[in-house]
Amino acid sequence: MLVGVFDSGIGGLTVLRELATALPEHDLVYLGDTARVPYGTRSPETVIRYSLRVSSYLADLGVGALVVACNTASTHALPALRLAGDRAGIQVFGVVEPGVEAALEVHHTGAIAVLGTEGTIRGRAYQDAIRLHAPDVPVEAIPCPLFVPLAEEGWVEGLVPEQVAEHYLGHLRGRVDTAILGCTHYPALAPILHRVLPGVDLVDSARATAKAVRTAFGPPSAPTGTVRFLVTDHPERFQRVGRIFFGHDPVPVEWVDLGPAKGPFAMGR
Ligand code: DGL
Repeated sequence: MLVGVFDSGIGGLTVLRELATALPEHDLVYLGDTARVPYGTRSPETVIRYSLRVSSYLADLGVGALVVACNTASTHALPALRLAGDRAGIQVFGVVEPGVEAALEVHHTGAIAVLGTEGTIRGRAYQDAIRLHAPDVPVEAIPCPLFVPLAEEGWVEGLVPEQVAEHYLGHLRGRVDTAILGCTHYPALAPILHRVLPGVDLVDSARATAKAVRTAFGPPSAPTGTVRFLVTDHPERFQRVGRIFFGHDPVPVEWVDLGPAKGPFAMGR
């Protein structure tokens, strides 16, 4: 099956990397909406519109399943994407539910921290999912907007990222035992986060999502899958920065023009 993976830009490569390991027999097509990144600072309406448009393009390529790697898009657009996906016969996966399930598995007695973009924190999808499954667990939801540009610069070690992390998260020390990395970019900062929040379990929703998709697909078969990379803006930056998130160079990268959203995804126009 062809599986579509989409993100606002580059960070979703952390999810793609996990999916490539978890779904070795499937062809993966990754679409980074680099012309419209970031989604994390935009309104829910805009994120829904962009997400429908990207998904419509992937539906036209013939994907049988769609993984919304972007936490902000998963937060705001999942209901609209699932509705359109149902009509198009495409199974749609997000990153929020798997991330929350994984967090609840490792959580002990303290609070759970949810770290994400401003949009993800304001959209409350993580907080609501935790409340649904574990109403008594305290939640600390913290937007960490500077983590995205730092990760994109590859500036994930040293004084500056550590001071930024301390500024956002220092007050959580001793109060949380689990932190959900609710943004595609945050796994790149994991070493710093471990230093600022010692002893705290960092839950990478990328890995949890890949596991959830694998479970839904059933046992793997022979590894014959391929990976294709598409972007909506100039490929050069994606190629250069993508290594931070994908582990090696995401090549070759093709530029695509999304065009208007069509069919079941048409309200993305
Ligand atoms: N991909 C986004 C997320 O996971 C982070 C980057 C952005 O703001 O678009 O929320």
